This record gives sequence, C-alpha cells and structure tokens, in this order.
Amino acid sequence: MQFLLHHTVITQAIANNDHKTLKQCQDKNSAGWVLSNSLAAIHSDLSKSMKIDAAHSALKDALQGIAMASLPGIEILNTPPSSKMDYLDSLAVRTVEVFKLNGIITLKPEVFAASGIRALQPDELPQVLKDDLANVKKVPLLNIPATYPQIWNNVEQEMSDVVRSGYFILGPKVAELEKQVAAYCQVPYAVGVSSGTDALLLALMAADIGPGDEVITSTYTFFATAGSIVRTGAKPVFVDIDPVTFNMDIEQTEAAITPQTKAIMPVHLYGQCVDMTPLQDLAKKHKLWVIEDACQAIGSEFKGQRAGGLGDFGCFSFFPTKNLGGFGDAGMVTTRSMELYEKMKVLRVHGMEPKYYHKMVGGNFRIDALQAAVILAKLPHLERWVNDRRTNAQRYHTLFQQAGLTGRLTLPKEVFPRHVYNQYIIRVSDGKRDKLREYLNGQNVACEVYYPVPLHLQECFKDLGHKQGDFPEAEKAAAETLALPVANEVTAEQQEYAVEKAKSFFS
Ligand SMILES: Cc1ncc(COP(=O)(O)O)c(C=O)c1O
Repeated sequence: MQFLLHHTVITQAIANNDHKTLKQCQDKNSAGWVLSNSLAAIHSDLSKSMKIDAAHSALKDALQGIAMASLPGIEILNTPPSSKMDYLDSLAVRTVEVFKLNGIITLKPEVFAASGIRALQPDELPQVLKDDLANVKKVPLLNIPATYPQIWNNVEQEMSDVVRSGYFILGPKVAELEKQVAAYCQVPYAVGVSSGTDALLLALMAADIGPGDEVITSTYTFFATAGSIVRTGAKPVFVDIDPVTFNMDIEQTEAAITPQTKAIMPVHLYGQCVDMTPLQDLAKKHKLWVIEDACQAIGSEFKGQRAGGLGDFGCFSFFPTKNLGGFGDAGMVTTRSMELYEKMKVLRVHGMEPKYYHKMVGGNFRIDALQAAVILAKLPHLERWVNDRRTNAQRYHTLFQQAGLTGRLTLPKEVFPRHVYNQYIIRVSDGKRDKLREYLNGQNVACEVYYPVPLHLQECFKDLGHKQGDFPEAEKAAAETLALPVANEVTAEQQEYAVEKAKSFFS
C-alpha cells in the first residue's frame, strides 16, 4: 500500500524523535510519500522549537527513504479551496488522488472525512497493512508503479537534470549510463540504443552481416531475435530448444553450421543463460560471431560471468517490463572490443563520422537521454530486485511442493546460476495449460503465455520452408508454458493465493 504522510505526522515524528511510522513507510509493502509542497510548512513548524540548521538536518534525516510527491503548479491552481479544510490539506487530497495512493496518514482523520480519501491515524497503520496483505483478491502480472516510491526522488532528479540542461540527444546522462551498465555487465564498453530490437540490429550491422549470410538462433524466443536478422538481409537458421532451460540446443546448433554461417545468436530466455561453454567453443572453431540476445537477462550469470560479456556483443532491452526497464523504449549493446564499440557508436548515428560525412550506412539507433536518466536512477536498485525475484521463484517452488502439485506441472530449473527470472515459467502438460490459464485469470491471478507460436511457424517466415513438427521441443513448450507473476513487487501472500488457486484447479 502507498500512503501520503500528512505534514503534521512528520513534524510530530521529528519533535518526539519517534520515527516508527516513518520507518514503517519505508517498506516495499507500505511505502510513504510526502507532499513536497508541504516541506516549507514543516520546516517553519520545526524552526519554532529548534535552530534552523538543526530543523533542516532533522527533516532530511526523517525523509530518508520517503518519496516526495510534487504537485505541479497547474494541479495546484486547479485544486479548489474548501471552507472545511486548510488549503494544504486540499492539496494533500489532490495528491492522494492524482498519485493514486491508498490514503493519508494523519493526526486528524476527521478533517478528511468528507474528502472521499481514506484517512488513518499512525497507530492504525500496522493493522491496515496486515489486513491488506492477508486479504489478497488480485495478483497482477506486473505492477510497475509499485516500485515508484523506491525510485521516485532519483528519477525526478535525473529527469529534471536532462530537461533543464536541454541536452536530449546522447550527452552526459547517456555516457554515464553506458559506463554504469558496462561495469554492471563486467565489460569495458556499452553503447546505449533505442530498443532491444535495435541493439540486435546494430550488433548484426557492426558484424557486417547481410545478404547471403546465415545466423543460427532459437526458434523459441521473442520475434525481434529473428526479425533483426532478416532486416539485415541475412537468413535466420532456427534450432530447437533444450526442454529444461528453453534455450537453444547446442548439438543442433553445431549441426546447423554451414559455410554461410556468420554468427550464432544465443537467447538467454526468461533470464537464464544458454550453456555458453560449448557454444563459445563452436564459435571459436568455426570463426563465428556470438551475439547474445540478453534482452531478458540483465544480471544473469554463467559460471560467474555476467550476460553481455559472454560473446562478442551483448544486447539488452530496457522495455518497461524488463528487470531494468525505462519509462518507454531503450536498449544497450555491450562488448569487450574497443574496435566494435567505436564502430557501433558511428553506426548508431547513421554511420556519421565526422559530422555530415558517412563512410557507412547506419541508422538512428540513439537512446533517448530521458530514458537514460530513468534507467540510471533505477540501476542502483537492480541487484535488490533480482534478489527479490529469485526469492519469489524459490517461494513458488516451496509452495507448489507443499501443495502437492509437482506431479501436475513442471517447475522451472536453475541449471546455470544465476537465473534472474524475468519470467517464472511453469509447464502444464496434457493439454491443460490453456484451461489453467483461463481459470487463474478468472480468479484474478494474471498469467501469460510467452510464446504461443515458435518462430519457424510464423507466417512471415514461411519462405524458410518449415512445417509443424520440425522443432518438436519448441512446439511442445509453446503449448505447455505459462508465466506466473514473479516481479520484485509480488508479495508472499499473492504467491500463496496464486498457488492456492492453481491447487483448486487441479483438485
Ligand atoms: C528475447 C528478446 N529479444 C529482443 C527483445 C526486443 O526488445 P525491445 O522490445 O526493447 O525492442 C525482447 C523484448 O521483449 C526480448 O524479450
């Protein structure tokens, strides 16, 4: 739940040196907001009883971990005053409404009685939170705004920096993000791009892949993997998957190599790395590029090495649903090669170097500086979110085992630690997957199928000449897999509810 902390609650907490309620509001399940427009009022209240410097540092300390909601000037002007309440209280009501908060924590709930928002006393909060957690009615697949309290202050700061600087195309925020993502992925270089799709396309272009070339990849992945290969004029050569990891089968990869093969594009699907050692050996033996589609796998590891540093190029997506998502489209390519890094930077801006001189044909693959700002603000939280996802995955394992459902469905296996669970995928056999999905959706448990049709059976690839039965494991996975909510904001109680509903489906 998310609450606005009325300014008097903050003043009292500081005056009494009792930060219990503020501490409770720093939890991911009970986040607190303060109306930034009320900070001046708190400051002047505190200054009545303490020195101004002491008041200022006490306020800063008290607000650690509390998100600040700023009501824009236009919202303030559009908030009518009420004869029944102070104007700052009217603004508080408006804030609860526009930020879609669950209510306000206040010393005087009666003031808000007629406002239509929920108002609680600080000492009511623990019970309200307990009841809310216990009373699960809905499990969404994702709840992106649930993480806003953790990131809001930094996101606002970073975005304001960009807007105020007027530097919207590449520039210092993009350079900083590239540096930080490269360090996170344990590689020396990273190039910010406009999406995960463009990351793949840019990597293929930097590897000079084009008409007449073949690129081997998995048939069981998101469309962009193969779509980007086709856009260079090259041919995607599909291979089947390993049924446990859902990732490309290495023996089939070797068998698919021809004199035209220029690259292998392993996809670390759902957040678990492909078995990279034999794949790297194959690439070395046949002198092939390795272009990792790590769009779902930022932070995942293979033998202690991060995705993105396991091939020549690592391609990432910051689509909002990814473990590290922007507020729109964005992506990144990582590499260990300075030469490829320099080439990609030129290809990203139409192959232009110096200005208005073009030795190569590239594209506009630039990352938006505002997206870079958002992702920069979120990056320091990524490790915690990954750990939350891993904890949630482990909890599902335990719950499904306790529910006696492991004979009815197959749980995902972490074969190559560490899996970052962009998706938690169960398998449901005997043609029951779609019925279970329908049942869970009907019980307000969101779940999704990634992906219902393998790429070799997509209409746009019919010229490749594939038919049903060519890649049986991928076809089986497409009929059996189901993604359950596993994101960092999903609570233990929501997972218990989801498993309980799955149990009632099977009983
Ligand atoms: C495996 C895979 N490859 C590529 C992409 C493309 O990324 P984007 O949506 O950022 O273009 C995605 C994103 O969904 C993906 O999951």
